Amino acid sequence: MKTCIFVFLLIGFKSLALNQGRQEKETLTKRSISPIDVLCKRSPDFKVLTYGKTKMCLYYGQDICTYAEAQGKCRSRNSTLAIFNTAEKFRILYPMDMVWIGLDDIANEGTYRWADGSILDLQSNLRYTIFQAGEPNAAFDFEDCVCNRCYYDYDKLYDTNCAETYNYLCEKVFR
Ligand SMILES: *[C@@H]1O[C@H](CO)[C@@H](O)[C@H](O)[C@H]1NC(C)=O
Repeated sequence: MKTCIFVFLLIGFKSLALNQGRQEKETLTKRSISPIDVLCKRSPDFKVLTYGKTKMCLYYGQDICTYAEAQGKCRSRNSTLAIFNTAEKFRILYPMDMVWIGLDDIANEGTYRWADGSILDLQSNLRYTIFQAGEPNAAFDFEDCVCNRCYYDYDKLYDTNCAETYNYLCEKVFR
């Protein structure tokens, strides 16, 4: 008899918990809050920025620094320099000038890698969407790091000297 009551209680609690989970999920969908909103809120100073359905959890570093320093600062916030590997993500970046992003050809001259190690195909439409015409040009062998709107009349990405100092954008990716 005792066991029986115990089992009933257990089943009762379990279905209660399941129901709550379901309700939470429904509320989230109704208000179109996605996991990134919830998770990003837990990271102080990071904010969700959106373009259409695309969302990114970003931190805007206002302490101007070199590319390597920016990498370290993002790492210490458990993040990487931000990755703008779609046209939609680039629209999120577009208004922000003088910022380092997570793209460089430090490891292999001429091979541009995002901060997650993936390669930007220089033959792709994306390259022409995000880079200033004629860029990246790897001028002087030391233009290895990529910055948004960092040159006086440029309004897109270009590759420049990693030792120059700019603001930077860190990104948290949730899997
Ligand atoms: C980074 O992650 C570690 C391990 O999870 C945690 O202890 C630390 O508080 C985090 N730091 C920041 C700035 O979020």
